[in-house]
Amino acid sequence: MARLDIHLFGSPILRQEAERVAHITPELRRLADDMFETMRAANGIGLAAPQVGRRERLFVVDVDGVRQAFVNPELVGAEGRNKWEEGCLSIPEVYAEVERPSTVTFRAQDLDGVWFEVTAGDLLGRCLQHELDHLAGKLFLDRLSLLKRRAALRQWDEEKLNYPALRRVLPVDALPPEQAPPAPAAGTPAGDAAPPTPTP
Ligand code: NI
Repeated sequence: MARLDIHLFGSPILRQEAERVAHITPELRRLADDMFETMRAANGIGLAAPQVGRRERLFVVDVDGVRQAFVNPELVGAEGRNKWEEGCLSIPEVYAEVERPSTVTFRAQDLDGVWFEVTAGDLLGRCLQHELDHLAGKLFLDRLSLLKRRAALRQWDEEKLNYPALRRVLPVDALPPEQAPPAPAAGTPAGDAAPPTPTP
């Protein structure tokens, strides 16, 4: 498995619509493996293909005990509304409350091409919606009010100075996977980034 560079806000691929996967090939499975590894190394809970510079309709999540690749995902049901703070691995250190449906049903193929359906709320439900947005070239910033969006962009203007190439290159991990930090607990920011301050 390899770690892929994460494309950051401003990189054009994050604004492109992803393309339907026609055939699930060994290469696609390798990509999914690399995305899982990249997500883990970045302490994330979700990662979509455009975030690693790819066009496939594919995302991976590892949250609330669900570790799953979603190929050709579709939102087939949504209920309720709630607000939750979100972050994004492509917009490090920027967090904001986003309003979305509270419970969603998704349909997708797994890496064997088998269609499955999942209904989720809480952190997983959020994460699935955030990742689906990535496949449409959307970011959580697009869902903010004008004022909140301006505040988030101001934060990003400072943070992005750390990434002149708009790529986040993950360091080589000194820790074996079993010593990696635990996944964030429910109630922490959703989206695909880790919480701003680690909870003990
Ligand atoms: Ni994201």
